[in-house]
Amino acid sequence: MTRPDDVTPLPLAETARLLVLTGAGISAESGLATFRGGGGLWEAEPVEEVATPAAFARDPARVWRFYSQRRAAANAVRPNAAHFALAEAERRMGERFLLVTQNVDGLHAAAGSERLVELHGSLWRARCSRCGRPPFPDRRYPVEPPLPSCDRCAADGRGVAYLRPAVVWFGEPLDAGDQYRVTGFLSRGRLEHAPLLFLAVGTSGTVYPAAAYVRYAAELGATTWLANLERPDNAWAFDHVVEGAATQVVPRLLGLDGF
Ligand SMILES: NC(=O)c1ccc[n+]([C@@H]2O[C@H](COP(=O)([O-])OP(=O)(O)OC[C@H]3O[C@@H](n4cnc5c(N)ncnc54)[C@H](O)[C@@H]3O)[C@@H](O)[C@H]2O)c1
Ligand SMILES: [Zn+2]
Repeated sequence: MTRPDDVTPLPLAETARLLVLTGAGISAESGLATFRGGGGLWEAEPVEEVATPAAFARDPARVWRFYSQRRAAANAVRPNAAHFALAEAERRMGERFLLVTQNVDGLHAAAGSERLVELHGSLWRARCSRCGRPPFPDRRYPVEPPLPSCDRCAADGRGVAYLRPAVVWFGEPLDAGDQYRVTGFLSRGRLEHAPLLFLAVGTSGTVYPAAAYVRYAAELGATTWLANLERPDNAWAFDHVVEGAATQVVPRLLGLDGF
């Protein structure tokens, strides 16, 4: 275990590839509640009432109220030094870098990250609850009926189909294309015999398949780091664990302290 003051930068030599996985902890210092723990998001609203397809079918207005609150909370905060350091690392490393987040708050994109996989979707997109049109940008704050509905379904004579937040709810599958980008990035490093590095930041490691990425990366020969405020259950799976706040640890690990 390493303390933040003892952190040395990752060996990001010329050919090294870096996959970064972030969770709710990286946005905590921006002011957004994490998943578990004191003041955790799910304490106020039971998950089954607001973040499942069944909940949306039962009471779409309640689900939209919850997500409108989350949109308002995310809109009120700014990316922090950890988000900005990751965006800068991407600018320096180009295609040798990939950022995968479980967060839906949009802060990585706001910090300038572009090589970004939003595994659990984004608060800032909506999709139709009925037809298969792709998700699209949406920054409204619905709280009561009439809720936003799909203009394509209406035009096709399919009646009123509510729009829903384009986030992955409990019990829903992840996008196969997103997962392929992650596994493809890791296996290409192996093909090229490039040093592979894996860094997880601010994630409790309990939500799959993201929690399995560290093992997959290790099987492909990656050296693995975890930067987290406290030691999570799956800390044993990492070669290096740094206990500390993301804004302190991430810039140091990336060799960007005070850039
Ligand atoms: N900001 C968001 O978008 C957001 C917020 C809450 C939950 N979620 C969703 O909830 C699920 C939760 O899984 P998870 O693993 O991302 O979150 P989690 O809440 O389960 O774990 C967060 C981890 O971050 C650590 N942490 C807290 N503050 C930190 C800091 N300043 N620096 C470093 N680490 C810190 C905690 O110790 C904890 O282990 C995800 O699927 C995610 O989609 C997203
Ligand atoms: Zn539709």
